[in-house]
Amino acid sequence: MTSDELHARALHSAPGGVHSPVRAFRSVGGTPVYVRSAAGARIVAVDGRSYIDFCQSFGPLVLGHRDPVVHAAASAALDDGWSYGTCEPYSLQLAEWILAHVPWVERIRFVSSGTEAVMSALRVARAATGRSKILKFEGCYHGHADSLLVQAGSGLAGEVAASSAGLSADLIAGTLVAPLDDEPAVAEIFERHGTDIAAVIVEPVPANYGLLPQRVEWLRHLASTARDAGALLVLDEVITGFRSGVQGAAGLFGITPDLVCYGKVIGGGFPVGAYAGRADLMALVAPEGPVYQAGTLSANPVGMRAGLATLERMESTDGWHVLEERTAAFVERLRSGLRSAAPDVEVVRHASIFWLRRGGDGPVRRPDRIGAGHADWYRRFFHAALERGVYLPPSGYEVCFLSLAHDADTLTEAADALVDAAAAIR
Ligand SMILES: Cc1ncc(COP(=O)(O)O)c(C=O)c1O
Repeated sequence: MTSDELHARALHSAPGGVHSPVRAFRSVGGTPVYVRSAAGARIVAVDGRSYIDFCQSFGPLVLGHRDPVVHAAASAALDDGWSYGTCEPYSLQLAEWILAHVPWVERIRFVSSGTEAVMSALRVARAATGRSKILKFEGCYHGHADSLLVQAGSGLAGEVAASSAGLSADLIAGTLVAPLDDEPAVAEIFERHGTDIAAVIVEPVPANYGLLPQRVEWLRHLASTARDAGALLVLDEVITGFRSGVQGAAGLFGITPDLVCYGKVIGGGFPVGAYAGRADLMALVAPEGPVYQAGTLSANPVGMRAGLATLERMESTDGWHVLEERTAAFVERLRSGLRSAAPDVEVVRHASIFWLRRGGDGPVRRPDRIGAGHADWYRRFFHAALERGVYLPPSGYEVCFLSLAHDADTLTEAADALVDAAAAIR
């Protein structure tokens, strides 16, 4: 079976042949690579071709594919039964580990995805403040809860337009959108709507419209503006949580959220999310408080044990530090090769996340500053990389992830292949 044959079949059973849109390769063109198996830094396609993988399941696999320790933990969980619908020790162990490592996590509730985590955290924020509106930022993605599928509208500051069909106007009316990296815009929105804003939600390192690292002063300004107005600060660390460092981006930047949302790394590649934060806020969640939130498969023991094994392994191997250094060296090699091969291509990095961008001047902190030719360039670059044995995320606006399984030899091979790919399509 080839990827082409499988995809032709899949088109008859799933919308666009896929179960999550970016997998369809619409942004880069061509047929999705159907993966047969994966190990470490590599995926193997159904036709037997092996690729160095920088997608890593869009971020959860901080140790790489099929890490042996996580494998053992998940297998043990399977041996013991994979869903009980009652209490078990594994979620307690993972919760206690996180509470012991992240000071602003005083209480945590596990859910099954990042979307659920964000949706629930914002419900808590509305209940805690008695206010209805949420402020988010253009270019940040927080999952597909109805009220968050919005983009900046063309009218008044903060006004939104739907970014999906099927949303009720009432729901999205509760969301405001501001540009990133713009203190006056935030001030104006708070002036106009301040007493209605329950929470400000932001990705501390926006990584869903390419990688757009922000000024720490801007993040701090946001935190203080929100607090001065009586709104909560919700950090969406679904990507950065347990990847930027054990305390996520909040720890790196010294910003304390009221509530924090996790996903991806926290479950070691299994469907786990969590929302967490101040004890008084989390006390509002059922059954302790009036904010209803539940889940049949929440705190699934396979995910809980895989997540704990992942975090413990990161800690025992000094994983965050090792990854930081390895990614920095890799990006340096890439930059130096690209200087002559493709001088208009920039490599942006945060911790073990990187993004290749064509065009745009200086530090790009907002989507509208990304060069107009980037998407078209990435479409060609993606396929040139694929031909050279490197699998990148199939969209120019998704970021690349390193794992501890990307060793020095693999990274040298990958950097050389990517430089060659950029030179070939110049
Ligand atoms: C920052 C951020 N928040 C929330 C989500 C939603 O998470 P999930 O896809 O697990 O629902 C994502 C997914 O990529 C994300 O990147």
